[in-house]
Amino acid sequence: MTGLPAFRRFSYFFGLVAACLCVSACAESGAAAGLRLPAYQAECAACHIAYPPGLLGAKSWQHIMGDLSKHFGVDASLDVGSTKAISAWLVEHAGAGRRFNDTSPDNRITKSQWFVRQHDEVSASVFKRVAVGSASNCAACHKRAADGNFSEHEVRIPK
Ligand code: HEC
Ligand code: HEC
Repeated sequence: MTGLPAFRRFSYFFGLVAACLCVSACAESGAAAGLRLPAYQAECAACHIAYPPGLLGAKSWQHIMGDLSKHFGVDASLDVGSTKAISAWLVEHAGAGRRFNDTSPDNRITKSQWFVRQHDEVSASVFKRVAVGSASNCAACHKRAADGNFSEHEVRIPK
């Protein structure tokens, strides 16, 4: 690197930082895997983004897929085949590690400890803004949420 002109070194450094952030944020959210099952994209992204499977533990996904007719106040039921296929895929790509040992309250990403910690600077009133609606509406603030990108560099909180 010593041979590079100063500006090259500079951009190389920031390129690296950006790449690392993307890798950590994307790996954390299971983002890459989040976009792969066409049935998941087709059936589970009509009302909200297709939440990356790595953001919830296997038990929470099983609970959600086992009760789709009473899905957070709406009926999201599917035929048996699609339910099984999507469920198996979500469990396979579910979040692993200690933070996912316990079932998340209400089986919500937004009520899990890590989520609350990551958003401790966002007040409840901000989540209730008309342009946001609720914490579940990731895409209101994470401009690339649909691609599974939750990097802090892509966050814009709407007024
Ligand atoms: C008919 C609309 C609809 C469909 C289809 C739908 N959902 Fe939902 N989903 C909702 C609503 C409404 C909420 C609650 C959002 C809120 O609290 O603001 C929700 C919330 C969720 C949450 C919790 C988000 C949080 O707050 O952490 C998960 C996970 C979820 N849905 C997964 C799925 C999966 C998996 C499918 C496909 C099998 C699916 N959804 C299909 C309407 C839908
Ligand atoms: C009201 C706006 C808002 C909503 C809605 C929101 N977030 Fe965030 N999110 C933020 C802010 C602000 C941060 C902190 C960025 C920082 O650290 O500077 C953040 C941070 C994160 C991080 C950590 C990013 C990093 O690089 O460390 C993840 C992961 C994340 N959010 C996921 C989600 C998911 C998943 C949803 C939806 C279920 C969601 N967020 C909904 C505003 C929001």
